[in-house]
Amino acid sequence: MRLSDPSNLLASPVIPVLVIERVADAAPLARALLAGGLRTVEVTLRTAAALDAVRAIIAEVPGIVVGVGTVTKVSEIGRALDAGAQFLVSPGTPRELAEAFADAPVPAMPGCATTSEAMALAALGFSVLKFFPAEVSGGIRWLNALVEPLPDIRFCPTGGVNADNAEVYLALANVVAVGGSWVAPAEAIAAGDFARITALAQTAARLTRRAD
Ligand code: 3PG
Repeated sequence: MRLSDPSNLLASPVIPVLVIERVADAAPLARALLAGGLRTVEVTLRTAAALDAVRAIIAEVPGIVVGVGTVTKVSEIGRALDAGAQFLVSPGTPRELAEAFADAPVPAMPGCATTSEAMALAALGFSVLKFFPAEVSGGIRWLNALVEPLPDIRFCPTGGVNADNAEVYLALANVVAVGGSWVAPAEAIAAGDFARITALAQTAARLTRRAD
């Protein structure tokens, strides 16, 4: 499904990008982020536990929107949907993945890193794109340079976005949200330090975007 309108997915200005190694951490982590005011999370398909983590969050943490990220193959879409994914995200988007995203029954945020990739996805009807990896692909200056020539394409930059630069990204006219792992550090998850994660989420949730 082409994401063309702000939806639940963009309820908060920051989308935590989660790498969950142990299923048992999934619900406490989601609860901690929600308690901090972040209402959308992206669980990356980078660990064996990812899809069971999605199932656990959906079963145990009502009120949070859960998507599946790091989708790199068409075959992963069905498995993500079976687990209950409410949106789909990719780091980059070959044509066949873009077409499968467009046909999916949930919104998708396809990834891109260049102007031509962004234009190709916009031509397929996607108007909110993940810009990844943001910091090493031109970051704030790249996004700002696209505002005038491509005003209808909106981005969620991710990859190197953190507590220090998120505010500057969110001030851009074409940025609707930012994504990042900084609100859920691996060491805090491993240590079960969910109070720290709630504190990080609170700070992130207070950020405002230009559209607010
Ligand atoms: C992603 O998949 O969006 C990124 O790996 C997140 O990047 P970060 O760890 O630099 O926030």
